[in-house]
Amino acid sequence: MQLPEINRRAFIKGAGATVAMVAASRFLVACAGDSTPRGYGGEPRPLPIPPLAEGEREGNRVIYRLTAQEGQSNILPDVTTRTWGFNGDHLGPTLTARKGDEVTVEITNGLGEMTTIHWHGMKLPGIADGGPHSPIEPGETWSPSWTVSNTAATLWYHPHPHGLTGLHAYRGLAGAFVIEDEVSDSLDIPKDYGVDDIPVVLMDHRFHEDGSLDEEDLPDLGLLGDTPTVNGITGAHFDATTRRVRFRLLDGSNMRFFNLAFSDDRPFQVIAGDSGFFAEPLERSSLIIGPGERWEILVDLEPGEDVTLRSVAFPGNFGVPEDEYTPDFGFADSFDLLTITGPAEEAPSTPAIPGVFDPAARQDPDVIDAPERTFVLNTFSINDQMMDMQRVDVVIDHDGPEIWEVTNDNSDWPHNFHIHNARFKVVSMTGTDIEVPVDGWKDTVGLPPGATARLAVEFGYHPDPAWPYMYHCHMLYHEDQGMMGQFVIVEPGGQPADQLGGGSHAHAHHVG
Ligand code: C2O
Ligand code: CU
Ligand code: CU
Repeated sequence: MQLPEINRRAFIKGAGATVAMVAASRFLVACAGDSTPRGYGGEPRPLPIPPLAEGEREGNRVIYRLTAQEGQSNILPDVTTRTWGFNGDHLGPTLTARKGDEVTVEITNGLGEMTTIHWHGMKLPGIADGGPHSPIEPGETWSPSWTVSNTAATLWYHPHPHGLTGLHAYRGLAGAFVIEDEVSDSLDIPKDYGVDDIPVVLMDHRFHEDGSLDEEDLPDLGLLGDTPTVNGITGAHFDATTRRVRFRLLDGSNMRFFNLAFSDDRPFQVIAGDSGFFAEPLERSSLIIGPGERWEILVDLEPGEDVTLRSVAFPGNFGVPEDEYTPDFGFADSFDLLTITGPAEEAPSTPAIPGVFDPAARQDPDVIDAPERTFVLNTFSINDQMMDMQRVDVVIDHDGPEIWEVTNDNSDWPHNFHIHNARFKVVSMTGTDIEVPVDGWKDTVGLPPGATARLAVEFGYHPDPAWPYMYHCHMLYHEDQGMMGQFVIVEPGGQPADQLGGGSHAHAHHVG
């Protein structure tokens, strides 16, 4: 419960002196906890589409430049809110790369405090992963490079400074990272970015009376919001110009699970999970997404019709008791998220949805002789331990899959387990009656109370004893409170280094 205090001070210190005084006095007033729930209604506003990052490309080498900066945006209509963004006021541009590309991202920290940037879902060397061992100090630039080995998928990027990930993401540091490959090239599906291929970044916030973000951690719930946003605004509206739209859904919130459905319960096709396409599309009329997860869906729209993407109450409250002793994680909430209007009558008709997307996704990792490890999640701990930046919890000394068996040992809390530098298939989910969608390759999996998931995990193999990867609960308050562990990948028989990471200045250089 100490960290949030420090966080706020750091934020205030980072702003210009005058602004800092104002912010400080506002904060003192706001400290009383008078957060104002806002209607997400009002006049609908056009859904903002994060710009595609303009990289510098030469053959299969691409360089992106991102600056994390402070700004102001209109999350709510007619109210200005101080936010953070990459190359802009709020959120970040969508980065794109192809499998096989050599990517460099030069990230400059234009904030008043240290942060890090992590490539969620990417298989890459630990030194480029951007976890808590890769701080970027204010004014510095960090330039990781790696070769993309992921198949086509919707990945994302967000900060990862230990203890502060939730707050930095909440202020707006998040963006999509889209990977394409031969399979995505070959599919006859919507792929015109911003036209019929639409990123949908879901978050939630709380606001003070004056429009500033309420950054108070609620007991047990951290930065759970009461006001949902899509691509950074409330009341978003999308005017479709085509009869079929592909939504790349990303839950970038700190703590909120959404149970997505359309207002008329229309069926839609789920075509991809966190780490890429399914073998075959899956028809559903509702879909659970938790913090850190992604799904891609195809929705067909009739000319002129109106339909709303909503989040509706979870069947069985996601297994979380509904009593006065249990925190309200929001599973009973319902929200309108995005209103949608169908295309004009002249919009061309759509082709049949491909029956097969990625046939290779049928194949599960061969885990017959794979090492097995167990992870027991309870409140803020994993296997009874809290995160220690200098402790290695797991050493992987081979280039093969493993079975990770992950149990949510809490009877009343949900968790959402994520592994860096990896993708997995959920082999089984037991210990719960709740139906959790676990199809396809994933990197994050929701665990209702009591649930045990057996994961067949494939890691990227870039042995390096000094640069650990993280596994953690992606409910960011849990992560920041210590629900995280570290694994190191080494050569066969290898040992982790005595000193992890490179120190705060070893891999970022000063610019300007
Ligand atoms: Cu989005 Cu450590 O993760
Ligand atoms: Cu990650
Ligand atoms: Cu958790």
